[in-house]
Amino acid sequence: MCGIVGYVGPQNATDVVIEGLRRLEYRGYDSAGLSVRRPEGHVTLKRSGKLKNLEDALEATPLAGAHAIGHTRWATHGPPTDRNAHPHVTEDTRVALIHNGIIENHQALRERLNGAGHVFTSDTDSEVLVHLIEEAYDGDLSDAVRAALRQVEGAYAVVVSHADHDELVVARMTSPLVLGYGEGETFVASDVPAILKHTRRVSYLQDGQVATLRPAGIQATDLEGHPQELEIDTIDWDLEAAEKGGWPHFMLKEIYEQPQVLVNTLSDRLSQSTGDANLNLTLDPSAIDRIVIVAAGTASYAGEVGRTLLERWARIPTTVEVASEFRYANPIVDARTLVVAVSQSGETIDTLEAVREGIRHGARSLAILNSKGSSISREVDDIIDIHAGPEIGVASTKAYVAMVTVFAMLALHFGRARGALSLEEGQDRVAELKRLPNLVADALEGRPAIAAAARSLAEARSVLYLGRGVHVASAKEGALKLKEISYVHAEAFPTGEMKHGPIALIDAAVPTVAVATDGPLTGKTASNLQEIKARGGRVFAIATRGADGLDGAADVRLDVPPVEDALAPVVVAVPLQLLAYEASVALGRDVDQPRNLAKSVTVE
Ligand code: AGP
Repeated sequence: MCGIVGYVGPQNATDVVIEGLRRLEYRGYDSAGLSVRRPEGHVTLKRSGKLKNLEDALEATPLAGAHAIGHTRWATHGPPTDRNAHPHVTEDTRVALIHNGIIENHQALRERLNGAGHVFTSDTDSEVLVHLIEEAYDGDLSDAVRAALRQVEGAYAVVVSHADHDELVVARMTSPLVLGYGEGETFVASDVPAILKHTRRVSYLQDGQVATLRPAGIQATDLEGHPQELEIDTIDWDLEAAEKGGWPHFMLKEIYEQPQVLVNTLSDRLSQSTGDANLNLTLDPSAIDRIVIVAAGTASYAGEVGRTLLERWARIPTTVEVASEFRYANPIVDARTLVVAVSQSGETIDTLEAVREGIRHGARSLAILNSKGSSISREVDDIIDIHAGPEIGVASTKAYVAMVTVFAMLALHFGRARGALSLEEGQDRVAELKRLPNLVADALEGRPAIAAAARSLAEARSVLYLGRGVHVASAKEGALKLKEISYVHAEAFPTGEMKHGPIALIDAAVPTVAVATDGPLTGKTASNLQEIKARGGRVFAIATRGADGLDGAADVRLDVPPVEDALAPVVVAVPLQLLAYEASVALGRDVDQPRNLAKSVTVE
């Protein structure tokens, strides 16, 4: 959740760290801080609020030094104030530390350290680490960090600096850290964009590893001090992919990237002649009886569309479990169950623990991910990369459509392999999948009408989102998009459920967005929408261009091009995303960094 950057080398360390933090601000953004090492101790500057506040303070008080560590925080323990911002520094300023994660036994450790005379200056769980390291330090910083970490329970990515050493010591347990290798300089960060300007050569630190970064290179050990090999990877995408490039917001850029993303997601995975998708899986599709999808938020809604696809096309019983529940549910899974983890970041702690729980129960595992080298990628039997490129806006957009598209290819592959789809049916689906990039580009053309509709939603007291079948998930995704970036309350229901309670909410200030593309139940949807209109509710319908089954039941139609029903969530995602985006802009909200949220949720 928090953003971490550290640098050791000849460049101006403050500039390198601040620039890196700017690229990580999407991870968490309620306070920021920086410590620069000098032989006499650390100089530290911390500010609550966005990174800009720290940058302004640095302009007034420039800090130069040989190496530096910086942090953007997403508060867990203690409010987002200057004193709770990281880095945490010992009273004599000799040790400085930044931390992402949660130290679960911090209370007991704090009491013991208080008793031993340590003076705490923040409310955070993280601060215990700096005192533990101070206590354990005997001239060797990495020894002290290992000794401290052996006493803690919980999740951490830590970066530690000591005034005596021209080095940083870093360690990881569950929370991500990437190490970068330059010429005579080394880097550490929570995510690649922070250091990509300087190097493409990186190592992903593993759980239980401790590494020492010096200008000349990086050495790693385990928590006991045994040497460890670090694998070096080369990043194959460019920094421009993680920059706004003239767009007013990352979210809008990412929405408009979707046609190209889908081209990349489908890439050369489809075969028209065999009517199949090649996903390079080690899994034998006949070796499973059921599928359990585990994910959070938008990824779980992609999973809900995936369930429909897997059940319709492959006839495999599939359930979707919210990851934060599944991990504690003592789930009934076995060796003939496939657990599918879905995650843009690959770091969502609930999803990681959920898939681990499935594996502990003997299930086969597969992950649908957007992040090479991520924590989830290291746990599973098979991985399908969604190839969406870096997603920076906190509201997930392009990752969602890419995840759904991957589920469609998975359902096609399983359906063909298990005989649920004939050659001809497979070929039809391949042809339909190949149309998706153009259909999404077509849906983007509807933006002016969507922007006008969004202005009405921005004034609403609350908005109801409805859908049937595969669009129950579309409705949930649309409602989540609206609430997270515009703060307008929104709820989603299956259309047929309205009359069982939610219809009581309808009045002139509570409009409805109905995802009502053409299908066998359009007539029933039309009746439900008439029931809403009869009670003074305004209806915005996302409908299929040229289809008249809604029979005038919508006040406003937002048309999308016709597409096979099970794939329609990819196309209707566009107006749903744009409705939320335009409402957020109309209300003057912070589109890319909405309040209280963080992009990558690495705490429970
Ligand atoms: C979506 O817009 C979100 N901000 C959020 O629900 C997100 O999808 C969820 O936290 C899961 O993230 P992941 O895909 O990185 O696991």
